[in-house]
Amino acid sequence: MPTPIDLRSDTVTQPTPAMREAIAAAPVGDDVIDVDPTVEQLERRTAEILGKEAAIYMPSGTMTNQVALRIHCRPGDEFICESGCHIYNYEQAAYAQLSGLAVRPVQGDEGVLKVDQLRTLIRPDNDHLVRTRLVCLENTHNRGAGRVLPHDGVVEICQWAHENGLATHLDGARLFNAVAATGIAADDWASHFDTVSVCFSKGLGAPVGSALAGPKDLIRQARRHRKVFGGGMRQAGIIAAGALYALEHNRQRLTEDHQNAQFVADGVRRAEGLRLDPERVDTNMVIFRVDERLGPASTLVAALKQRGLLVLAIGPDQVRAVTHLHITASDAARAAEILVETAADIARGERPALAEEPAY
Ligand SMILES: Cc1ncc(COP(=O)(O)O)c(C=O)c1O
Repeated sequence: MPTPIDLRSDTVTQPTPAMREAIAAAPVGDDVIDVDPTVEQLERRTAEILGKEAAIYMPSGTMTNQVALRIHCRPGDEFICESGCHIYNYEQAAYAQLSGLAVRPVQGDEGVLKVDQLRTLIRPDNDHLVRTRLVCLENTHNRGAGRVLPHDGVVEICQWAHENGLATHLDGARLFNAVAATGIAADDWASHFDTVSVCFSKGLGAPVGSALAGPKDLIRQARRHRKVFGGGMRQAGIIAAGALYALEHNRQRLTEDHQNAQFVADGVRRAEGLRLDPERVDTNMVIFRVDERLGPASTLVAALKQRGLLVLAIGPDQVRAVTHLHITASDAARAAEILVETAADIARGERPALAEEPAY
Protein backbone atom coordinates (compact mmCIF):
# COMPACT_ATOMS: atom_id res chain seq x y z
CA MET A 1 0.00 0.00 0.00
CA PRO A 2 1.53 3.41 -0.91
CA THR A 3 2.06 6.00 1.85
CA PRO A 4 -1.31 7.57 2.65
CA ILE A 5 -1.98 11.21 1.78
CA ASP A 6 -2.27 12.66 5.26
CA LEU A 7 -4.55 15.71 5.36
CA ARG A 8 -5.58 15.34 9.00
CA SER A 9 -3.66 18.43 10.07
CA ASP A 10 -0.68 20.61 9.23
CA THR A 11 0.86 19.33 12.48
CA VAL A 12 1.67 15.88 11.03
CA THR A 13 4.83 16.96 9.21
CA GLN A 14 8.20 15.31 9.79
CA PRO A 15 11.42 17.34 10.04
CA THR A 16 13.08 17.39 6.62
CA PRO A 17 16.73 16.27 6.21
CA ALA A 18 17.92 19.90 6.05
CA MET A 19 15.98 20.73 9.20
CA ARG A 20 17.49 17.69 10.94
CA GLU A 21 20.96 18.92 9.98
CA ALA A 22 20.21 22.31 11.52
CA ILE A 23 18.97 20.55 14.65
CA ALA A 24 22.10 18.38 14.87
CA ALA A 25 24.38 21.41 14.52
CA ALA A 26 22.59 23.68 17.00
CA PRO A 27 24.63 25.15 19.87
CA VAL A 28 22.73 24.67 23.14
CA GLY A 29 22.84 25.78 26.77
CA ASP A 30 20.67 25.61 29.88
CA ASP A 31 17.83 27.99 29.05
CA VAL A 32 16.42 27.82 32.59
CA ILE A 33 19.65 28.67 34.42
CA ASP A 34 20.63 31.37 31.95
CA VAL A 35 20.45 31.02 28.19
CA ASP A 36 20.36 28.61 25.30
CA PRO A 37 21.92 30.44 22.33
CA THR A 38 19.67 28.83 19.71
CA VAL A 39 16.53 29.57 21.71
CA GLU A 40 17.77 33.12 22.15
CA GLN A 41 18.31 33.45 18.40
CA LEU A 42 14.85 32.07 17.65
CA GLU A 43 13.25 34.45 20.13
CA ARG A 44 15.13 37.45 18.73
CA ARG A 45 14.24 36.57 15.15
CA THR A 46 10.57 35.93 15.97
CA ALA A 47 10.29 39.28 17.75
CA GLU A 48 11.93 40.98 14.78
CA ILE A 49 9.56 39.40 12.23
CA LEU A 50 6.54 40.30 14.37
CA GLY A 51 7.81 43.82 15.09
CA LYS A 52 7.69 43.29 18.86
CA GLU A 53 10.29 44.08 21.51
CA ALA A 54 10.66 40.50 22.69
CA ALA A 55 9.47 36.93 22.25
CA ILE A 56 9.61 33.75 24.31
CA TYR A 57 9.75 30.17 23.08
CA MET A 58 7.33 27.62 24.58
CA PRO A 59 6.52 23.96 23.94
CA SER A 60 3.03 24.56 22.47
CA GLY A 61 0.49 27.00 21.13
CA THR A 62 -1.75 26.15 24.04
CA MET A 63 0.91 27.28 26.49
CA THR A 64 1.57 30.56 24.66
CA ASN A 65 -2.16 31.34 24.69
CA GLN A 66 -2.57 30.42 28.34
CA VAL A 67 0.48 32.42 29.42
CA ALA A 68 -0.88 35.38 27.44
CA LEU A 69 -4.20 35.13 29.31
CA ARG A 70 -2.25 35.06 32.59
CA ILE A 71 -0.22 38.15 31.87
CA HIS A 72 -3.22 40.19 30.75
CA CYS A 73 -5.77 39.07 33.35
CA ARG A 74 -6.18 38.40 37.07
CA PRO A 75 -8.49 35.80 38.65
CA GLY A 76 -12.07 37.06 38.32
CA ASP A 77 -11.40 38.82 35.02
CA GLU A 78 -13.19 38.03 31.79
CA PHE A 79 -11.96 37.91 28.21
CA ILE A 80 -13.95 38.22 25.01
CA CYS A 81 -13.34 35.84 22.11
CA GLU A 82 -15.04 34.31 19.07
CA SER A 83 -17.09 31.27 20.06
CA GLY A 84 -15.37 28.87 17.63
CA CYS A 85 -11.84 29.78 18.67
CA HIS A 86 -9.16 27.40 19.90
CA ILE A 87 -8.69 29.06 23.30
CA TYR A 88 -12.36 28.60 24.12
CA ASN A 89 -12.96 25.14 22.61
CA TYR A 90 -9.76 23.13 22.60
CA GLU A 91 -7.71 24.07 25.63
CA GLN A 92 -9.80 22.31 28.31
CA ALA A 93 -11.03 25.66 29.66
CA ALA A 94 -7.47 26.14 30.96
CA TYR A 95 -8.32 29.83 31.37
CA ALA A 96 -10.62 28.69 34.23
CA GLN A 97 -8.54 25.73 35.46
CA LEU A 98 -5.20 27.54 35.58
CA SER A 99 -5.99 31.24 35.85
CA GLY A 100 -9.49 31.62 37.33
CA LEU A 101 -10.84 33.52 34.33
CA ALA A 102 -14.30 33.80 32.84
CA VAL A 103 -14.91 33.91 29.11
CA ARG A 104 -17.44 35.80 26.97
CA PRO A 105 -17.66 33.89 23.68
CA VAL A 106 -19.33 35.77 20.82
CA GLN A 107 -20.57 33.98 17.72
CA GLY A 108 -18.81 35.26 14.60
CA ASP A 109 -19.54 34.72 10.95
CA GLU A 110 -17.24 31.83 9.96
CA GLY A 111 -14.91 32.91 12.76
CA VAL A 112 -15.06 36.61 11.96
CA LEU A 113 -16.21 39.09 14.63
CA LYS A 114 -17.32 42.65 13.95
CA VAL A 115 -16.63 45.49 16.36
CA ASP A 116 -20.35 46.32 16.58
CA GLN A 117 -20.95 42.93 18.22
CA LEU A 118 -18.56 43.86 21.03
CA ARG A 119 -19.44 47.47 21.85
CA THR A 120 -21.93 46.64 24.61
CA LEU A 121 -19.95 43.81 26.20
CA ILE A 122 -17.65 45.70 28.55
CA ARG A 123 -19.11 45.21 31.98
CA PRO A 124 -19.57 48.22 34.25
CA ASP A 125 -17.30 48.61 37.27
CA ASN A 126 -19.56 47.01 39.84
CA ASP A 127 -18.84 44.61 42.73
CA HIS A 128 -21.30 42.07 41.34
CA LEU A 129 -19.56 41.68 38.03
CA VAL A 130 -16.41 40.18 36.54
CA ARG A 131 -13.99 42.68 35.05
CA THR A 132 -13.75 42.71 31.26
CA ARG A 133 -10.01 42.80 30.51
CA LEU A 134 -9.02 41.33 27.18
CA VAL A 135 -10.06 40.57 23.61
CA CYS A 136 -8.57 37.50 21.89
CA LEU A 137 -8.75 36.98 18.14
CA GLU A 138 -7.54 34.01 16.06
CA ASN A 139 -5.96 34.49 12.62
CA THR A 140 -6.23 32.41 10.56
CA HIS A 141 -9.29 30.91 12.20
CA ASN A 142 -9.07 27.13 12.54
CA ARG A 143 -12.80 26.30 12.88
CA GLY A 144 -13.52 29.00 10.32
CA ALA A 145 -11.71 26.71 7.82
CA GLY A 146 -8.52 28.72 7.87
CA ARG A 147 -10.37 31.99 7.32
CA VAL A 148 -8.18 35.09 7.17
CA LEU A 149 -9.73 37.77 9.35
CA PRO A 150 -10.48 40.96 7.39
CA HIS A 151 -7.60 43.35 8.15
CA ASP A 152 -9.90 46.39 8.58
CA GLY A 153 -12.04 44.46 11.03
CA VAL A 154 -9.00 43.49 13.09
CA VAL A 155 -7.83 47.11 13.22
CA GLU A 156 -11.31 48.30 14.27
CA ILE A 157 -11.65 45.72 17.03
CA CYS A 158 -8.17 46.35 18.44
CA GLN A 159 -8.57 50.14 18.32
CA TRP A 160 -11.93 49.90 20.06
CA ALA A 161 -10.45 47.53 22.69
CA HIS A 162 -7.49 49.78 23.46
CA GLU A 163 -9.63 52.94 23.56
CA ASN A 164 -11.75 51.17 26.15
CA GLY A 165 -8.90 49.98 28.34
CA LEU A 166 -8.88 46.36 27.16
CA ALA A 167 -5.76 44.43 26.22
CA THR A 168 -5.58 42.43 22.97
CA HIS A 169 -4.05 39.04 22.20
CA LEU A 170 -3.77 37.33 18.83
CA ASP A 171 -3.73 33.55 18.61
CA GLY A 172 -1.62 33.56 15.46
CA ALA A 173 -0.93 29.83 15.40
CA ARG A 174 -1.33 30.22 11.61
CA LEU A 175 -0.55 33.93 11.27
CA PHE A 176 2.01 33.20 8.55
CA ASN A 177 -0.76 31.63 6.47
CA ALA A 178 -2.64 34.93 6.75
CA VAL A 179 0.53 36.73 5.67
CA ALA A 180 1.00 34.42 2.67
CA ALA A 181 -2.65 34.74 1.66
CA THR A 182 -2.86 38.54 1.88
CA GLY A 183 0.66 39.88 1.38
CA ILE A 184 0.09 41.90 4.57
CA ALA A 185 3.29 41.61 6.60
CA ALA A 186 3.39 39.78 9.92
CA ASP A 187 4.51 42.92 11.77
CA ASP A 188 1.52 44.82 10.36
CA TRP A 189 -0.96 42.19 11.60
CA ALA A 190 0.89 41.99 14.92
CA SER A 191 1.14 45.75 15.45
CA HIS A 192 -2.54 45.98 16.42
CA PHE A 193 -2.19 43.53 19.32
CA ASP A 194 -0.41 43.74 22.66
CA THR A 195 0.70 40.11 22.41
CA VAL A 196 0.82 37.61 19.57
CA SER A 197 1.43 33.88 19.62
CA VAL A 198 2.73 32.01 16.58
CA CYS A 199 3.29 28.27 16.07
CA PHE A 200 6.32 26.76 14.34
CA SER A 201 4.87 23.23 14.38
CA LYS A 202 1.89 23.82 12.06
CA GLY A 203 2.22 25.16 8.51
CA LEU A 204 5.90 25.97 9.04
CA GLY A 205 6.66 22.28 9.62
CA ALA A 206 8.87 22.31 12.74
CA PRO A 207 8.54 19.41 15.17
CA VAL A 208 7.93 21.44 18.35
CA GLY A 209 7.07 24.83 19.65
CA SER A 210 5.44 28.21 19.57
CA ALA A 211 6.38 31.70 20.66
CA LEU A 212 4.66 34.55 22.43
CA ALA A 213 5.75 38.05 21.38
CA GLY A 214 5.04 41.43 22.90
CA PRO A 215 6.54 44.27 24.95
CA LYS A 216 9.65 43.42 27.00
CA ASP A 217 7.97 43.83 30.38
CA LEU A 218 5.13 41.45 29.47
CA ILE A 219 7.50 38.86 28.02
CA ARG A 220 9.57 39.03 31.21
CA GLN A 221 6.38 38.20 33.15
CA ALA A 222 5.61 35.47 30.61
CA ARG A 223 8.93 33.81 31.48
CA ARG A 224 7.80 33.39 35.11
CA HIS A 225 4.41 31.99 34.08
CA ARG A 226 5.98 29.63 31.55
CA LYS A 227 8.05 28.18 34.40
CA VAL A 228 5.05 27.60 36.66
CA PHE A 229 3.18 25.92 33.78
CA GLY A 230 6.12 23.52 33.44
CA GLY A 231 7.45 25.06 30.25
CA GLY A 232 10.98 25.91 31.35
CA MET A 233 13.10 23.80 28.99
CA ARG A 234 16.84 23.23 29.38
CA GLN A 235 18.82 22.48 26.18
CA ALA A 236 15.81 23.50 24.13
CA GLY A 237 18.03 24.71 21.30
CA ILE A 238 17.65 21.16 19.95
CA ILE A 239 14.00 21.85 19.15
CA ALA A 240 14.35 25.62 18.70
CA ALA A 241 16.76 24.93 15.83
CA GLY A 242 13.94 23.16 13.95
CA ALA A 243 11.66 26.10 14.66
CA LEU A 244 14.27 28.60 13.50
CA TYR A 245 14.86 26.62 10.32
CA ALA A 246 11.11 26.54 9.69
CA LEU A 247 10.77 30.26 10.28
CA GLU A 248 13.55 31.10 7.83
CA HIS A 249 12.73 28.58 5.10
CA ASN A 250 9.06 27.68 5.15
CA ARG A 251 7.06 30.90 5.26
CA GLN A 252 7.16 31.78 1.57
CA ARG A 253 6.03 28.34 0.43
CA LEU A 254 2.74 28.48 2.36
CA THR A 255 1.10 29.81 -0.82
CA GLU A 256 1.67 26.32 -2.31
CA ASP A 257 -0.38 24.83 0.54
CA HIS A 258 -3.12 27.34 -0.20
CA GLN A 259 -3.12 26.44 -3.89
CA ASN A 260 -3.24 22.74 -3.02
CA ALA A 261 -6.19 23.33 -0.68
CA GLN A 262 -8.04 24.76 -3.68
CA PHE A 263 -7.49 21.45 -5.53
CA VAL A 264 -8.93 19.54 -2.57
CA ALA A 265 -11.86 21.97 -2.35
CA ASP A 266 -12.53 21.42 -6.02
CA GLY A 267 -12.81 17.67 -5.33
CA VAL A 268 -15.35 18.37 -2.58
CA ARG A 269 -17.38 20.53 -4.97
CA ARG A 270 -17.46 17.71 -7.53
CA ALA A 271 -18.22 14.93 -5.03
CA GLU A 272 -21.75 13.61 -4.64
CA GLY A 273 -23.17 14.35 -1.18
CA LEU A 274 -20.29 16.58 -0.01
CA ARG A 275 -20.61 20.34 0.45
CA LEU A 276 -17.97 22.90 1.38
CA ASP A 277 -18.95 24.69 4.56
CA PRO A 278 -17.80 27.41 4.48
CA GLU A 279 -17.75 27.62 0.69
CA ARG A 280 -14.71 29.91 0.74
CA VAL A 281 -11.22 28.46 1.18
CA ASP A 282 -8.75 31.21 2.11
CA THR A 283 -5.68 29.24 3.13
CA ASN A 284 -4.72 25.60 3.82
CA MET A 285 -7.92 24.25 5.42
CA VAL A 286 -10.96 22.75 3.81
CA ILE A 287 -14.03 21.94 5.91
CA PHE A 288 -17.00 20.18 4.41
CA ARG A 289 -20.34 18.62 5.32
CA VAL A 290 -21.38 15.08 4.53
CA ASP A 291 -24.95 14.61 3.41
CA GLU A 292 -26.90 12.20 5.63
CA ARG A 293 -27.47 9.90 2.62
CA LEU A 294 -23.78 8.97 2.92
CA GLY A 295 -24.08 8.26 6.66
CA PRO A 296 -22.04 9.95 9.40
CA ALA A 297 -18.76 11.71 8.66
CA SER A 298 -16.93 8.88 10.43
CA THR A 299 -18.10 6.40 7.75
CA LEU A 300 -16.67 8.55 4.98
CA VAL A 301 -13.43 9.05 6.93
CA ALA A 302 -13.02 5.27 7.31
CA ALA A 303 -13.72 4.67 3.61
CA LEU A 304 -11.21 7.36 2.61
CA LYS A 305 -8.60 5.80 4.88
CA GLN A 306 -9.02 2.44 3.14
CA ARG A 307 -8.19 4.23 -0.12
CA GLY A 308 -5.13 5.99 1.26
CA LEU A 309 -6.53 9.41 2.19
CA LEU A 310 -6.47 10.52 5.82
CA VAL A 311 -8.80 13.32 6.96
CA LEU A 312 -10.47 14.15 10.30
CA ALA A 313 -14.13 14.01 11.30
CA ILE A 314 -14.58 17.21 13.32
CA GLY A 315 -18.33 16.88 13.87
CA PRO A 316 -21.08 14.30 13.26
CA ASP A 317 -21.38 15.45 9.64
CA GLN A 318 -18.23 17.56 9.31
CA VAL A 319 -14.80 16.71 7.92
CA ARG A 320 -11.56 18.70 7.80
CA ALA A 321 -8.69 18.36 5.33
CA VAL A 322 -5.50 20.41 5.72
CA THR A 323 -2.63 20.80 3.27
CA HIS A 324 0.97 21.19 4.42
CA LEU A 325 4.68 20.86 3.69
CA HIS A 326 4.52 17.21 2.60
CA ILE A 327 1.54 17.55 0.26
CA THR A 328 2.42 18.11 -3.38
CA ALA A 329 0.07 19.42 -6.06
CA SER A 330 -0.30 15.88 -7.39
CA ASP A 331 -1.15 14.57 -3.88
CA ALA A 332 -3.84 17.24 -3.64
CA ALA A 333 -5.22 16.37 -7.08
CA ARG A 334 -5.19 12.66 -6.14
CA ALA A 335 -6.95 13.47 -2.83
CA ALA A 336 -9.66 15.27 -4.80
CA GLU A 337 -10.18 12.19 -7.00
CA ILE A 338 -10.33 9.88 -3.97
CA LEU A 339 -13.01 12.13 -2.45
CA VAL A 340 -15.10 12.06 -5.62
CA GLU A 341 -14.76 8.27 -6.12
CA THR A 342 -15.35 7.37 -2.48
CA ALA A 343 -18.43 9.56 -2.06
CA ALA A 344 -19.90 8.03 -5.24
CA ASP A 345 -19.22 4.49 -4.01
CA ILE A 346 -20.79 5.15 -0.60
CA ALA A 347 -23.81 6.73 -2.28
CA ARG A 348 -24.16 3.46 -4.27
CA GLY A 349 -24.18 1.49 -0.99
CA GLU A 350 -20.50 0.47 -0.63
CA ARG A 351 -19.71 1.19 3.00
CA PRO A 352 -16.69 0.27 5.13
CA ALA A 353 -17.38 -2.18 7.97
CA LEU A 354 -15.87 0.08 10.62
CA ALA A 355 -16.40 3.80 11.13
CA GLU A 356 -13.44 5.90 12.32
CA GLU A 357 -13.43 7.23 15.87
CA PRO A 358 -14.56 10.83 15.64
CA ALA A 359 -11.93 13.38 16.75
CA TYR A 360 -14.24 16.21 17.80
C1 LIG B 1 -5.61 28.23 16.24
C2 LIG B 1 -4.84 27.36 17.16
N1 LIG B 1 -4.35 27.87 18.29
C3 LIG B 1 -3.66 27.14 19.17
C4 LIG B 1 -3.41 25.81 18.93
C5 LIG B 1 -2.67 25.00 19.97
O1 LIG B 1 -1.45 24.58 19.54
P1 LIG B 1 -0.72 23.32 20.26
O2 LIG B 1 -1.35 22.11 19.67
O3 LIG B 1 0.71 23.51 19.89
O4 LIG B 1 -0.96 23.45 21.71
C6 LIG B 1 -3.91 25.21 17.77
C7 LIG B 1 -3.66 23.79 17.50
O5 LIG B 1 -4.08 23.22 16.53
C8 LIG B 1 -4.65 26.01 16.86
O6 LIG B 1 -5.18 25.49 15.75
